[in-house]
Amino acid sequence: MSELLFDTQALQDALSKTALAPWAAALGQAVLAQGHGLKHGHLPRWEQAVASLPIVADSRLSVEAGNVRISGSFSEQDRPALQTAFESLMPWRKGPFSIGPLSINTEWRSDWKWNRIEVHIASLQARSVLDVGCGSGYHLWRMRQVGAACVLGIDPSLLYLMQFNAIQHFVQDKHVQFLPIPMQALPASMNVFDTVFSMGVLYHRRVPAQHLSELKQVLRPEGELVLETLIVPDQGDTSLTISERYANMRNVYELPSIARLESWVRAAGFSNVRTVSVEQTSCEEQRTTEWMPSHSLAQALARDYPALTVEGYPRPLRAVVIANREQ
Ligand SMILES: C[S@@+](CC[C@H](N)C(=O)[O-])C[C@H]1O[C@@H](n2cnc3c(N)ncnc32)[C@H](O)[C@@H]1O
Repeated sequence: MSELLFDTQALQDALSKTALAPWAAALGQAVLAQGHGLKHGHLPRWEQAVASLPIVADSRLSVEAGNVRISGSFSEQDRPALQTAFESLMPWRKGPFSIGPLSINTEWRSDWKWNRIEVHIASLQARSVLDVGCGSGYHLWRMRQVGAACVLGIDPSLLYLMQFNAIQHFVQDKHVQFLPIPMQALPASMNVFDTVFSMGVLYHRRVPAQHLSELKQVLRPEGELVLETLIVPDQGDTSLTISERYANMRNVYELPSIARLESWVRAAGFSNVRTVSVEQTSCEEQRTTEWMPSHSLAQALARDYPALTVEGYPRPLRAVVIANREQ
């Protein structure tokens, strides 16, 4: 198995003029400490795909109709090389992206999630932002686009790191960084981020209170937490324990009601806790596409009763909770 060669000096250089500078060395060490987590049999293929991307001198990033778009003087000859490289990085779950002539229609319309969230959060202008479980990095680019000074994404998946690297190849923005580490590996008590996003991660954690405590410790006092997670539709203070799979996903442990979720957030040391969005996930927002050809939400719902998952649980319902770290 091949191992990722991570350049800690490049990370320190990139972060040197940001609020994260005092933490740059520790963040680099946190990556190196991942050991087996930096190894993957497909790594050479993914790295080759990123290395094969064309160099486009005037490439720039914009957002168009929810697409993170890379434009510039791409030539028609670039199309087959782009197609081959981006296909080597499949499956593409979070997006959409368009790179020159290539459109990547991802499994998720991640722009819909962003639209639901963006209107409720404090302006990201000049802020230092952390996105925990950032997937391909789609939302990192959206955060930077609305003025964040420095955006750090973390996710243990090396495939998602390579998807991020493919976009970063064209953007070359050192104030947007991706580290292949889980939340638990961040230096404790960083107290540095102005805004921390945790979207689609809490239900993957066996002990949700631990995740919320870790989120608090990396935020500065009064900093903003943006928490997006699966909930159950119950009105009371309750939660559903998942025994094996939920909507075909492994590693889903406990789904709270809104009341329970808010009480978890308060108990972790946050105030001003409010639920700003509750939305059932539709088969238009999450679906099979040519860039993610496997089963998606439609196959995870009971065939004759789509209000339930194939396991008989309530179908996916997602809430966004915003809160501020107490002093
Ligand atoms: C459902 S996806 C959500 C992606 C993105 N945040 C979004 O909302 O579209 C969950 C992501 O969290 C990552 N993840 C799982 N456990 C994690 C952990 N302990 N720390 C950081 N990321 C984690 C997974 O690799 C995956 O990319």
